[in-house]
Amino acid sequence: MAINVEKLSDAAGAAISGLDLTQELSTDDTQALKQAWQDHMVLLLRGQELTEEEQERFCRTFGEIAGLKSQNTDSKFLFVTNKEDPNVATAVQIGEMMFHYDQAYSEHPCKASTLYSIEIPDIGGNTSFANCCAVYDQLSDKWKDRLEGKTALNYFNYATNPSLRPDQIDPDAPQYSHPVIRTHSETGRKSVYVNRLMTIRINDVKKEESDEILTYLFDLIESPHNIYEHVWQVNDLVLWDNRCTAHARQHYDPEKRRLLRRMTILDEKPVV
Ligand code: SIN
Repeated sequence: MAINVEKLSDAAGAAISGLDLTQELSTDDTQALKQAWQDHMVLLLRGQELTEEEQERFCRTFGEIAGLKSQNTDSKFLFVTNKEDPNVATAVQIGEMMFHYDQAYSEHPCKASTLYSIEIPDIGGNTSFANCCAVYDQLSDKWKDRLEGKTALNYFNYATNPSLRPDQIDPDAPQYSHPVIRTHSETGRKSVYVNRLMTIRINDVKKEESDEILTYLFDLIESPHNIYEHVWQVNDLVLWDNRCTAHARQHYDPEKRRLLRRMTILDEKPVV
């Protein structure tokens, strides 16, 4: 049976049906899946009851598995949750999380991420994905010229509230400067690569200009017409292209457990 690809929004995202990820994928299905991923940037596979091994096999279709850089563990999985579990590597995150690219503060941010949903609150906790190639396409020529060749510092300080852009930078906190406009290594499309959670300044310009540029770009990235908002069901597997989509989580009741299993795919240094 051929896979079925159904667009989820005008901005990004496609639901894939006709695949059972507990089984090995055929060469044709793998090729169709990769094509759908390039076309839609975010893929949703619903109703998959997956072991860790099966999620890992799916991820390997797209590249090598990335370890957990920020955690002192050998685990390849990170459980994104609001309730700590001492038996597994957890990222305890409560409520809303602003738009970001996973690991944008490192030299080689992951190329792709997957989240597999295990427990989901009945309301809230949706994950939004912004199509940052579309954002680039929407820039005027003047803006494109203005951003050409610029870099921005991405910074994440786990010890403080990361959503506050700091005046003082902790030299030991993870941080890396990447091009503001990057080019996708497979599609050749350009995309805007700054995000509200981690990008704290445009390099080599005055603070006022940096703030003006960032505010403009963040607002454009977060415009509803650039976004697919995913409402989770249990047993959803979502794969997104971390090179050209930024993602954010919406608020949910911290008393309700939300548990997703994350595995990321190695590594690509952003290039102009
Ligand atoms: C993440 O950004 O890693 C988590 C996103 C989510 O919890 O929806």
